[in-house]
Amino acid sequence: MFNYNRYDRKLGHNERKLNQSDFIVSKTDMKGMITYANPTFLDISGYHTAQLLGANHNIIRHPDMPRAVFSYLWDQLKAEKVVYGYVKNLTKDGSFYWTFAYIAPDYNAKGDIIGYHSERRAPNPKAIMDITLLYDRLKQLEIQYDIETAREYLISQASQQGGSYEHYIYTLQNQH
Ligand SMILES: Cc1cc2nc3c(=O)[nH]c(=O)nc-3n(C[C@H](O)[C@H](O)[C@H](O)COP(=O)(O)O)c2cc1C
Repeated sequence: MFNYNRYDRKLGHNERKLNQSDFIVSKTDMKGMITYANPTFLDISGYHTAQLLGANHNIIRHPDMPRAVFSYLWDQLKAEKVVYGYVKNLTKDGSFYWTFAYIAPDYNAKGDIIGYHSERRAPNPKAIMDITLLYDRLKQLEIQYDIETAREYLISQASQQGGSYEHYIYTLQNQH
């Protein structure tokens, strides 16, 4: 029997890079269980559709990702807002890939929220240098203190750059 538990995978230093034209799409239910994965998602993550459908989206969570980022993400989604961010993901074979992600709520015809969808593309490589340092710091704060302290640091870093978290992310992605 194969076991696809993310913690069983050997973590590697092998990076897989998205091409400029690559576009990863996934959809989830309200709890983050995957309900749709496009071919690019299958290709880069190394999973088959059947392995992803019904799985929690944390199946591709990379341990380098700070919990504070996901905590912020879920708070935004619960408030029915869209969220942008840099996400380092884990493939089935233990490689990693960076994405610039957009996540938003999905609604039915009555206007009820029924789940979420995410679109991801190649990140600006210059942004990844800054984000790697920031995420390392957030992870340290989570170990030393707690997620809340790391989250406050995330927001304070963004405001030091002149604005909100969203403005900070936008500036990072659009730098030359
Ligand atoms: C539409 C959508 C897309 C998501 N995409 C990712 C993703 O690409 N990588 C990831 O690690 N988490 C993603 N998440 C967040 C996961 O659901 C989960 O919160 C995160 O991996 C942290 O795992 P944990 O909640 O078990 O700590 C996504 C959530 C939603 C709703």
